[in-house]
Amino acid sequence: MKLCSTVAAMRAACRAVRGQGKRLGFVPTMGALHEGHLSLVRAAKARCDAVAVSIFVNPTQFGPKEDLAKYPRPFERDHELLEQEGVELLFAPPVEEMYPAGAVTYVTVEGLSEKLCGRSRPGHFRGVTTVVAKLFHIIEPDAAFFGQKDAAQATIIRRMVRDLNLPVEIVVCPIVREPDGLAMSSRNAYLDAQQRKSALVLSRSLKEVQNLFDRGERKASRLIEAGKQVFAQEPSVRLDYFEIVDPDTLEAISEVHGPALVAVAGFVGNTRLIDNIVLQG
Ligand code: PAF
Repeated sequence: MKLCSTVAAMRAACRAVRGQGKRLGFVPTMGALHEGHLSLVRAAKARCDAVAVSIFVNPTQFGPKEDLAKYPRPFERDHELLEQEGVELLFAPPVEEMYPAGAVTYVTVEGLSEKLCGRSRPGHFRGVTTVVAKLFHIIEPDAAFFGQKDAAQATIIRRMVRDLNLPVEIVVCPIVREPDGLAMSSRNAYLDAQQRKSALVLSRSLKEVQNLFDRGERKASRLIEAGKQVFAQEPSVRLDYFEIVDPDTLEAISEVHGPALVAVAGFVGNTRLIDNIVLQG
C-alpha cells in the first residue's frame, strides 16, 4: 500500500492507477476504523480494480464544542487494517495540506445541510461537503463508498455530486451492527460499559418503529411517538431528534407510502450517536 501525505503525491498516484485503465474506488474516512469502514473497502474492492482510502480528521465538520481534539487517531492500527484489506493507496494529509492558511472557500448544499444532524450541528455538513469535494478533486475516483449509518450525509453528497456534475458514482452500503444491534461507530469507543448498554436504546427504538410499521401503521406521528416512548424508558440517553423524512429531500413526511428514512440521534453522556432504518412503504 502506498502512503501519500501531500495532495500532489496522492493526485499523481491516483492518476497513475487510472492511467493503467483501472477503475478506482474511494473510501473517505476519519480513521479509527471498524468493520463498518472495512465493509466499504470490501464493497469498493468488489466493484473496482483498485481502492484508495483517505484518513483525515476534518476540522471543518466539527463544531467549537465538539470532540475534534479527542477524536481517536489510531493511525498504525488503521494502516495495518487497510494493508490487510489490500488497499492500494492511502491518503493521510496533515491539516495544513488540506486547508492551507487563508482557505475561505466552502461547498454548501443549501437547505439539506440544515436538516437532521445539520440542525443540531450547524456547519457540520458544510464541512463534510467541502472536504469530500476536495478529496474527489484530488483522487478523481470513478466510485466513492459511504455508509448508510450517515444517511443524511449520503443524501447531501449525492445532491452535491449531481448539482456540481462531479463524475463519480456514489455507492451507499448498509449499516454494520454489533451482534446486539448497536450501529458501529468510531465514537462507540468513548462509551463505558454502562453507557454501551444504554446506547442500545437507539436501535431498540428503531426496531419498535419497524414492528409497528409491519403491523400496518403508516402515520409518521404515531410511529415517531412509539420510538420516543422507547427512549423515555432510558432517561440516561438524551434524545436529540427522532424524525421520519423523505430519504432524498430530508423533509418530514406525515404518512409513509414510499421509502421513508427513520433517523434518530441521542447523547449518551457526552457522546452523540446516530442510527436509522429505511421503511419500505
Ligand atoms: O463519514 C465520515 O467519516 C466523514 O464525514 C467523511 C465522509 C470522511 C468526511 O470527513
